[in-house]
Amino acid sequence: MTPHPSVTKLLIVEDDSAVRTTMTTCLELEGYEVEAVSSTREALDTLERKSFPIVISDIYLDERTGIDVLKSARRQNPECAVILMTGRGSMETVMAATAGGAFDYLAKPFEMAQMIDTIKRAEKSLEATGENEAASIDDIPETEMIGSSKTMVEIYKTISRVAPTDATVLIEGETGTGKELIARMIHKNSLRANHAFVPVDCGSIAPSLLESELFGALKGAYTGADRDRMGVFEAAHGGTVFLDEIGDIDLGFQSKLLRFLQEREVRPLGSPRVKKVDVRVIAATNRDVQKMVDDGKFREDLWYRLNVVRLLLPPLCERTADIPLLVHYFLKRYNERYRLHTRLIDSGLKVLLEYSWPGNIRQLQHMMERLTILAPHGRIDTGAVQQAIEQGDSRESTSETLADTETDQIRRVMAATNGNKSRAAKILGIERKTLYRKLEKMGL
Ligand SMILES: Nc1ncnc2c1ncn2[C@@H]1O[C@H](COP(=O)(O)OP(=O)(O)OP(=O)(O)O)[C@@H](O)[C@H]1O
Ligand SMILES: [Mg+2]
Repeated sequence: MTPHPSVTKLLIVEDDSAVRTTMTTCLELEGYEVEAVSSTREALDTLERKSFPIVISDIYLDERTGIDVLKSARRQNPECAVILMTGRGSMETVMAATAGGAFDYLAKPFEMAQMIDTIKRAEKSLEATGENEAASIDDIPETEMIGSSKTMVEIYKTISRVAPTDATVLIEGETGTGKELIARMIHKNSLRANHAFVPVDCGSIAPSLLESELFGALKGAYTGADRDRMGVFEAAHGGTVFLDEIGDIDLGFQSKLLRFLQEREVRPLGSPRVKKVDVRVIAATNRDVQKMVDDGKFREDLWYRLNVVRLLLPPLCERTADIPLLVHYFLKRYNERYRLHTRLIDSGLKVLLEYSWPGNIRQLQHMMERLTILAPHGRIDTGAVQQAIEQGDSRESTSETLADTETDQIRRVMAATNGNKSRAAKILGIERKTLYRKLEKMGL
């Protein structure tokens, strides 16, 4: 008698009937035994009765979610590989999925080939280990990271895997793409969360001072050192140091940084003694450091040390799918902050979607703040957005001129910020002293 080849049983939980049917058909053709249900209720009932090695579930279903299905499946069978899928992935859901022991997480829409590939990997890992660590998912971490495009979901997955480790992470991306925010998320979701997160902008500190800033210095170690100073690495003991603009440090200091990464010891300037410190390092750059390495301007060995885990943040124009989410998020936030009721009109969103965003999310955020306060009649429409874009462009290239509506704009921004002049100047995109001058002219 020939042994019956074992057929893997799959449970699919998906409320969209078209997706459910397509998946069922495809996976049955692949030789799987498929049971498909459309609600969490049915899913939980089915899991009570029967054990499945692999469960594939949508996340947003009904009053309960795929995370509940995940919990239940893993409670009945701790080895169950759960594959979650969603078109609305957020940092929270990916973190919850990972923390709950999900096998993988697919952003919709996906190709069936990708799903089959994931199932095959799940089967392999079931054969290989037979054991999977279960974790609690009761506290879903909070975040202010917006974005559910495929690239962002991939980034969330990497973060959730790498955060709890002490691995050095290198974050690359253009200005304003969220490098510092990502670094903070990694720290917040790490075992070091209760310790310090200390950012250091290597680009804005004079090369001669960077060493004492990071390693510390004893009194008299250099001219102007009038007291002992503890360095950042020591001050952040137990926590995370974020080295921003890592591409800006000079070759001389690069070797010292490399030594630190290898030894995790600091010797304050002028001190004979070294101290062990326990910090995690996250570095970021908006420069092409690989090219600097090729040109001999950045040490290759340091590059490898930093580059244990590499996260590449795409420019906003390459993930326009996230623009509507970000726009609504910032609109809500600034409406709340300034107690306004500004509305976004479809035509306005269209212009925002078509813009190229050279300053990425930071630029979008600033523009939304301005628009929330200044959009005529509280309506962000084509005209309002076009005007904001033109103003932003002209400010960058030439002077500080605002349009004819200047006086009116200044009044509104001053009212919204309760007369806070530095905030107002920032929103208007002009220097504080320029604002003073203008207010004087207006007799305010
Ligand atoms: N995914 C996101 N969701 C919401 N806000 C975001 C997101 N990414 C970035 N931001 C916001 O955009 C602004 C710029 O982000 P951040 O400072 O992290 O960028 P950066 O890459 O470090 O820029 P730079 O290279 O200029 O220092 C911040 O106010 C940040 O909170
Ligand atoms: Mg930054």
